[in-house]
Amino acid sequence: MATCKVNFIFSVVFVVFGAALGFLGSGDTFRRKVSVELNPGLKPPSVLPPEVGLVHVRGLGLNDTLHFLICNRGAPALLLVHTNSTQSTVQVNWPNFINHSLSGSLKVEPQDSVQYSSALVFTRVWEYDDVNDTADPQQTAESSFYPPYELQNFTWSNLSINDNQSDPTVMLCGGKETESFLNGTLCLQFSAFESEGREKAWPSLLHNANSSQLRVWLNGVTPRGNSSRFALEFHSVGESEFQGRVDVHSSIDDEYTPSIFKVAQWVSFPVNSSGVRGYNQWKPVAYRKAEPAFEDATPCKHSRLVSVNHIPDSGLVQAYFTDNPQTHGLNISFGIAKDPVFYSATKYVSWTVLMGVGEPPAESFSTLIIIIIAVGLGTPLALIIVGGVFVWIRKRMSHSSVYEPIN
Ligand SMILES: *[C@@H]1O[C@H](CO)[C@@H](O)[C@H](O)[C@H]1NC(C)=O
Ligand SMILES: *[C@@H]1O[C@H](CO)[C@@H](O)[C@H](O)[C@H]1NC(C)=O
Ligand SMILES: *[C@@H]1O[C@H](CO)[C@@H](O)[C@H](O)[C@H]1NC(C)=O
Ligand SMILES: *[C@@H]1O[C@H](CO)[C@@H](O)[C@H](O)[C@H]1NC(C)=O
Ligand SMILES: *[C@@H]1O[C@H](CO)[C@@H](O)[C@H](O)[C@H]1NC(C)=O
Ligand SMILES: *[C@@H]1O[C@H](CO)[C@@H](O)[C@H](O)[C@H]1NC(C)=O
Ligand SMILES: *[C@@H]1O[C@H](CO)[C@@H](O)[C@H](O)[C@H]1NC(C)=O
Ligand SMILES: *[C@@H]1O[C@H](CO)[C@@H](O)[C@H](O)[C@H]1NC(C)=O
Ligand SMILES: *[C@@H]1O[C@H](CO)[C@@H](O)[C@H](O)[C@H]1NC(C)=O
Ligand SMILES: *[C@@H]1O[C@H](CO)[C@@H](O)[C@H](O)[C@H]1NC(C)=O
Ligand SMILES: *[C@@H]1O[C@H](CO)[C@@H](O)[C@H](O)[C@H]1NC(C)=O
Ligand SMILES: *[C@@H]1O[C@H](CO)[C@@H](O)[C@H](O)[C@H]1NC(C)=O
Repeated sequence: MATCKVNFIFSVVFVVFGAALGFLGSGDTFRRKVSVELNPGLKPPSVLPPEVGLVHVRGLGLNDTLHFLICNRGAPALLLVHTNSTQSTVQVNWPNFINHSLSGSLKVEPQDSVQYSSALVFTRVWEYDDVNDTADPQQTAESSFYPPYELQNFTWSNLSINDNQSDPTVMLCGGKETESFLNGTLCLQFSAFESEGREKAWPSLLHNANSSQLRVWLNGVTPRGNSSRFALEFHSVGESEFQGRVDVHSSIDDEYTPSIFKVAQWVSFPVNSSGVRGYNQWKPVAYRKAEPAFEDATPCKHSRLVSVNHIPDSGLVQAYFTDNPQTHGLNISFGIAKDPVFYSATKYVSWTVLMGVGEPPAESFSTLIIIIIAVGLGTPLALIIVGGVFVWIRKRMSHSSVYEPIN
């Protein structure tokens, strides 16, 4: 009976605690005021080359600001700058920015309010003929690789801003006039968020007001091999006093991203401290259709982090980082060994990553899982309790019938 009581208390605590987590989310009510501007401070006579643009998304907190900058000059890039002031501003020296005197032409002022800055740059799309069906670029002979698509040399569309809803988005697509890419596009969609939530579209990553999201998709490219698979290379540029590592955690709940129980995060922390200051976070899954069904999910894998000795060819990153930044790179490869579905099947693959400051969002038990646990634990418990009470009453009754004659 004692263990039963302990069990009971334990599961009550568990269910109540879980329900609180499930119903209230993680209790994160923090909000930012999000606003968008195109080409901040650009005035005639300065004019940008056609189709080139710089979008600034400001996420204003109570005593801090997140600046997100997206630019399609060279390789497409997202820069995140966190300041401890609500008055910080983005200053662009447009004549220099336009005239390729890039270094130092973009600043966030006052400069001593900057707490953390980091950029994500998409640099290359790799294609290889996976004749051995390993879906692993590292196990594939170099001769099976086709020349990569260098994203810095793509022609990018105008940045299109959708500022209608509370969480604004910015989209851009690029292409290249080669035979295989003639009908192809590589698109990126950036989203910023006012508060905690999830996008409906898979992988439905949990985001908060300190994060932004990039969805990348490769559509309509003519594969150069009979069993072509693709990988996406991206670089992260940061200040030299930070270092990074990629962790993979298991994620308990697949309600929002069916069949995926892992989450990968590339975290950045000060050289002699373990406090995480910023992150890129993704689930190891890509989708083979724009509106995917369950079977259109395909696992993806990341390579080891490598140090890159030059800063990527992105106008934005070269304009902002002047003081000996460091660059690391990673490949995300799509597909799994022995999977007969190659890129040619749908000519589409999409992948999503979050970028933000602070600790990466962590999934908690969802309401559905809590109900399942509660029912699973609660039913036998209820039976034990009811049974116990019943036995006790029976005992009482038989005892009283034993004692009655003595009276
Ligand atoms: C910023 O605001 C938060 C919440 O209002 C507060 O906890 C924190 O101490 C403030 N930080 C600074 C540096 O003022
Ligand atoms: C660009 O910069 C160079 C040298 O820095 C200068 O000679 C040239 O006139 C500039 N061009 C424009 C259009 O400002
Ligand atoms: C912001 O951070 C800087 C150091 O990076 C510090 O000197 C300054 O006092 C901080 N300002 C506020 C308002 O906390
Ligand atoms: C296929 O696998 C064999 C044996 O593991 C290896 O020698 C060969 O290089 C692989 N081919 C390619 C194209 O990767
Ligand atoms: C990409 O463009 C750069 C100049 O912007 C050029 O030097 C390089 O050769 C180009 N690379 C390819 C693969 O076309
Ligand atoms: C891009 O934007 C510019 C100016 O906003 C406009 O003149 C041009 O037609 C646009 N190009 C495309 C392809 O939409
Ligand atoms: C934005 O809102 C306006 C009117 O509210 C609507 O006409 C327009 O289609 C919307 N644009 C997008 C991209 O949703
Ligand atoms: C591109 O699309 C056009 C029309 O849909 C088609 O005729 C052409 O063959 C395609 N080119 C490639 C390289 O797939
Ligand atoms: C987001 O950042 C603000 C300000 O730094 C902080 O107060 C808040 O706790 C953060 N929220 C999350 C979910 O990390
Ligand atoms: C690839 O496909 C082409 C045309 O469909 C065919 O001629 C060729 O033999 C195939 N190559 C291999 C290695 O299967
Ligand atoms: C970090 O480490 C360096 C050398 O290892 C040391 O000089 C510096 O004081 C340390 N900084 C902090 C904040 O501990
Ligand atoms: C990505 O993969 C390609 C092909 O294996 C390789 O050449 C390149 O160095 C990789 N990039 C990174 C950053 O690991």
